Amino acid sequence: MEEFNVGVVGAGYVGLVTGACLAHVGHRVACVDKNEARVAELEEGRVPIYEPGLEELVARSRKRLSFTTDLPGVVRNSDVLFIAVDTPPGEDGSADLSSVGAVARSVGRALAEAEREGGSARERPLVVVNKSTVPVGSGDYVSMLVREGAQEVTAGGEVDYRVVSNPEFLREGSAVYDSMFPDRIVLGAEKRDALDTMRALYEPIVEQTFPTPLDPRPRDTVPFVTTDLASAEMIKYAANAFLATKISFINEVATVCELVGADVSSVANGIGLDGRIGARFLNAGIGWGGSCFPKDVSALRAVAREYGHEPTLLDATVSVNERQKKAVIQKLQRDLRTLKGKRVALLGLAFKPNTDDLREAPSLEIARLVHSLGARVVGYDPVAGKKARTLLPDLQVVFDPYEALEGAHAAVVVTEWEEVVELDPERAASLMEAPKLLVDGRNVLDPASCLSAGLLYRGFGRG
Ligand SMILES: NC(=O)c1ccc[n+]([C@@H]2O[C@H](COP(=O)([O-])OP(=O)(O)OC[C@H]3O[C@@H](n4cnc5c(N)ncnc54)[C@H](O)[C@@H]3O)[C@@H](O)[C@H]2O)c1
Repeated sequence: MEEFNVGVVGAGYVGLVTGACLAHVGHRVACVDKNEARVAELEEGRVPIYEPGLEELVARSRKRLSFTTDLPGVVRNSDVLFIAVDTPPGEDGSADLSSVGAVARSVGRALAEAEREGGSARERPLVVVNKSTVPVGSGDYVSMLVREGAQEVTAGGEVDYRVVSNPEFLREGSAVYDSMFPDRIVLGAEKRDALDTMRALYEPIVEQTFPTPLDPRPRDTVPFVTTDLASAEMIKYAANAFLATKISFINEVATVCELVGADVSSVANGIGLDGRIGARFLNAGIGWGGSCFPKDVSALRAVAREYGHEPTLLDATVSVNERQKKAVIQKLQRDLRTLKGKRVALLGLAFKPNTDDLREAPSLEIARLVHSLGARVVGYDPVAGKKARTLLPDLQVVFDPYEALEGAHAAVVVTEWEEVVELDPERAASLMEAPKLLVDGRNVLDPASCLSAGLLYRGFGRG
């Protein structure tokens, strides 16, 4: 395999995982972050985010993996530079590209400074890779900013670089696995040589020729999708918007199921076996959240509106999702009557299991709503609890699900952590106060066992 010097800007969920995986397969990787404390922590061998397998992978790859705040130094030494910084939603819902822009400008300046100080030893153009999720047109925008940055240093601003779009599809909670065994690798570029470099970089992952222990390997080779910049950027938004819509679709069906007395779990099973539909992302409940779906759907809606198109379907996807969180409150109100003075336990706080990420987690809004109606809220999460404490000062956080249930009049399953899915209904019922209401926001508990244990079970669309 051809070994590359790789720079990754942004040592967050995406950048750190990407860097560690590329080092694991044999490249030399420098991860850059502006957060000095984060870089110092990583230097000391501590991984600042929770992601299964990541700490081990970072430790195993340390020989080829470094951490720094020195972006110009990394630009000079890199063949390929990934931009993996955050692109949060701006006030109007569109993606805020200020971090991406700042990095692109600095890259241009660093390239031009290297040229000026005695010419570049570079054998090929620097490939600048947009891994952050960015709207259509961002590849061109990054290219323009690199040039502008270079012009701040030299009049002509002539520097040798290419821009590639390489959107990321990893899922938090299984990010390492998804990066080593991706369903596909999407590459968008205008220049052939940039695509060739990227193909060579990813060869060990495409051919699955990296060292164990990340078995089992689900497939022999990974397909590339090569396209123009704009289409690659659109693929990412379209993928997330589709998945969010699929969840909102089944939630709409669940609401109707509840009215007519059908069971949405059976319906999802019945339709999911149809190969054209597929079984995944058909779990009814409190809906989607997290750092990607909400902001990416909102960014796609903003792009559509910018071009004069009303994104009717995406608007509905969002409003169904908002309704699901309110449905939790309605279910609590129906059986508790008033929430004032009641104790409500939230089982799980992270937006999904196996992550400590609380960005746009449904738990946050549910906790706020329940608290505003006068209830005391106690939250359990095995990993995200500490972060939740800082975000919600009124939330009592515990690290044992049964401690959360002690004296609770109602409990809401928010995140399907293993500890929650395997909850013992008898023990739960023995700890709770009447009416012992259990709102199963993920439809993961067995209604019959809950009912026979004395819990008042309420799922979503389960008849
Ligand atoms: N988290 C996911 O599951 C996921 C999946 C696919 C795509 N994405 C996309 O990847 C991008 C990164 O997401 P994330 O979740 O890893 O974000 P994150 O917030 O975890 O990490 C971003 C990192 O970038 C650093 N940073 C910001 N500006 C910088 C600068 N100018 N110079 C150096 N470092 C800088 C921050 O300090 C932070 O450590 C986003 O565009 C996101 O939409 C995320």
